[in-house]
Amino acid sequence: MSCWTRVKMGTALAVAAIMLAASPGLAEDNYDLVARYVLETVRAFRTAYVLNVVEHIREGGIVPKEDWIKDAHAIPLPAQFVKAAGADLESFEIGLIGLTPVYKSNLPRTQAESDALQRLTSDRSQKVVSFADGNQFKAMAADVAVVQSCVDCHNVHPDSPWRNYRKGDIMGAVIVRLNKHGK
Ligand code: HEC
Repeated sequence: MSCWTRVKMGTALAVAAIMLAASPGLAEDNYDLVARYVLETVRAFRTAYVLNVVEHIREGGIVPKEDWIKDAHAIPLPAQFVKAAGADLESFEIGLIGLTPVYKSNLPRTQAESDALQRLTSDRSQKVVSFADGNQFKAMAADVAVVQSCVDCHNVHPDSPWRNYRKGDIMGAVIVRLNKHGK
């Protein structure tokens, strides 16, 4: 290889390095990986809260209740637990959405979210979906009625538009919305 070719290659590499350093955001693959890690963590904590806290203390007479704050014998709903953690985050969002949610504020925010939630619900082999959506990168995991109390509460909640949930149903999704850097 000639000396001149090496200089040219060196220059090309330096230019590539500068372009990478100056690029405003991570590559899509990296967002995907981050979103999936965050999603897995949120899901794991949520499941642990349901199975190890909510279900455990139920026998002691302490139950999850929407207005738990007013009642010393009540604890937050699993959805409120996720929301409370989410309220403390600044650089990205975590939440719960549903196609037939108790509150309209928990509906998918965009068409892409709605399509992804439909996909998760209709194809159970697909446990996680991720996609770019405007200035955000999103990952969603199916939220399953793992215990009977999930469906019992949703089926009788006065604001719930759907009253035929059964244990094992997909009730919605846990969602992570990452803000793309520099956008
Ligand atoms: C005691 C009542 C109660 C129990 C138990 C309960 N939920 Fe909910 N859930 C609610 C309420 C109320 C909301 C809306 C909370 C909000 O947005 O502030 C909600 C929100 C949700 C949402 C977001 C979409 C929507 O419907 O608004 C999903 C998904 C969800 N719950 C799934 C579950 C699953 C899965 C379980 C069991 C692990 C569960 N819930 C247990 C009452 C309950």
